[in-house]
Amino acid sequence: MLRGRGLVKSYPAPAGGAIRVLAGVDLDVRPGELVVVSGASGSGKTTLLNVLGLLEDPDSGEVWFGPERVSGLGRSTKSRVRGRSVGFVFQSFLLLPGLTALDNVLLAARYVGGVGEAERRRALALLEAFGVLDRRDHYPAQLSGGEQQRVAFCRAVLNDPPLILADEPTGNLDEANAAVIAGALADRARAGAAVVVVTHHPETVRGATTVFRIDGGRLGAWHD
Ligand SMILES: Nc1ncnc2c1ncn2[C@@H]1O[C@H](COP(=O)(O)OP(=O)(O)O)[C@@H](O)[C@H]1O
Ligand SMILES: [Mg+2]
Repeated sequence: MLRGRGLVKSYPAPAGGAIRVLAGVDLDVRPGELVVVSGASGSGKTTLLNVLGLLEDPDSGEVWFGPERVSGLGRSTKSRVRGRSVGFVFQSFLLLPGLTALDNVLLAARYVGGVGEAERRRALALLEAFGVLDRRDHYPAQLSGGEQQRVAFCRAVLNDPPLILADEPTGNLDEANAAVIAGALADRARAGAAVVVVTHHPETVRGATTVFRIDGGRLGAWHD
């Protein structure tokens, strides 16, 4: 489903020159796999996820979703592909403050064609499954961190995307909420999605197919 090839990404260093964050990353994630990428803070986990999720362009290398090369597409094609194929779970949730919980979840449908009765029903069912149905009319500021992350997760999976990318999805959560999100990620993989989780805390992810370490801009095997 997801293929990264030779991904290189540098950022300008404040003192001049460049920081090479990704130095040639290859990654394959098949449907049904749950791949964890762990590494120290600043090792490039978020950068890798953003490049795989088409939120940032690599300096070189390619990203493929199934048979389609999606790196190098134009801006609007790319956001269409992203809306259809990728569920992104952000570390800081990124709920829109001016929208209710329900409307934040429905945003995912708005990006790919619109909100009808079927989408509303599915959004409400997801909110119920994650225990936040009674918060559907609350704004993000009126929700706890755990509630926000559960709403953000509902948004990420509303369109049933074949690829789910999660950035420290349990980093800001208490144990109970972390377990809910970790379980839900494993469920999505079991249901056939390709799932990538980047985290400083690989032990919070259950049922990983593979755990990689990112170090020096490259992926290697994880050893405790
Ligand atoms: N937009 C940016 N501009 C400049 N440097 C950045 C930018 N984003 C990330 N970096 C740098 O790239 C490195 C990797 O960052 P990041 O991918 O966020 O790491 P992680 O998620 O593993 O903590 C860090 O040194 C960070 O300071
Ligand atoms: Mg990060």
